Amino acid sequence: MDELILTQPDDWHIHLRDGAALTAVAPHSADVFGRVMAMPNLKPPVTTVSAAQAYRQRILGALPPNTSCIPLLSLYLTESTTVAEVEAAAHSGFIVGFKYYPMGATTHSELGVSDLSRCREVLHAMAKSGLPLQVHGEVTDPAVDVFDREAVFIHRQLIPLLESHPDLRVIFEHITTRAAVEFIQGAGAGVAATITPQHLLYNRNALFQGGLRPHHYCLPVLKREEHRQALLHAVASGHPRFFLGTDSAPHSQSTKEASCGCAGIYSAHAALPLYAEAFESVGALSLLEGFASHFGADFYGLPRNQHRIRLIRQSWTVPPHYPFGSETLIPLRANETLAWKVVQI
Ligand code: NCD
Ligand code: ZN
Repeated sequence: MDELILTQPDDWHIHLRDGAALTAVAPHSADVFGRVMAMPNLKPPVTTVSAAQAYRQRILGALPPNTSCIPLLSLYLTESTTVAEVEAAAHSGFIVGFKYYPMGATTHSELGVSDLSRCREVLHAMAKSGLPLQVHGEVTDPAVDVFDREAVFIHRQLIPLLESHPDLRVIFEHITTRAAVEFIQGAGAGVAATITPQHLLYNRNALFQGGLRPHHYCLPVLKREEHRQALLHAVASGHPRFFLGTDSAPHSQSTKEASCGCAGIYSAHAALPLYAEAFESVGALSLLEGFASHFGADFYGLPRNQHRIRLIRQSWTVPPHYPFGSETLIPLRANETLAWKVVQI
């Protein structure tokens, strides 16, 4: 197969940042995706409908003039989020979920939630209005090995959460382990997961290949090969509750290549080619469209996109870096060649 025509895909998990960084990265996603789910972990985080409205305007301002790309937003759940805010979000028309960051789990999660039981009323209101909870699924307990934090999260938090809120719709974001795959396969119709390109393409050896590789560091961290295989099997099974969320998370070169480097991999410049490579590696290219363009929209209860995009087998070389405000951004696969390319129809 040398050509794929797909319903236009959506990216259900992306960090677009703000200001000059937003201006630098937004066009990469807008060129390909029909909708982008902008994560709310700005500084300060996007915790209210009015802050989200303002952020949405800034995103719209950063998109190329004739784009059809639509930004959707997620609100950052805090222990002070009110039921009234949930109801306002549900009526906003552009906020389609709340993001749960366990406090301290990842970039800009300081204002996240330390004890989800303090959000009972709010979670109840979300279940009632159908707004899903988008979960960063890692425990923050320093006693738990960093490679085990997702699997431990399932037992310590996710199962109890769904037991106390059986009607809450939950998206287990950027899953990385066999345990998470099996959890989704065994869960009800209201529970889904997003999967990133890096977790389909790399195992944890990529962090240490010939030396420390900061541009392969993200959270949740890359795992063992057996877990990557489990993710590949999940997407190659055509299961409708695994769908695309790049978790493209740009950080400047200087903050990545540092003594305490930031977590986040930038993949928006090549998202579809990277996923196509992963699907092709397991002979599942024909299942890419469901994962990339159908299942996410279906889960969110939104229409599938009308436009189509075309992917062709044509090699191209990823630039060494992209401008990023006054800094530079090192993309995934910098200076390397990709086999697939998106072209306009
Ligand atoms: C994300 C970021 O930089 O905002 N980083 C990452 O490694 N994925 C935050 C997140 O999604 O955990
Ligand atoms: Zn993320």
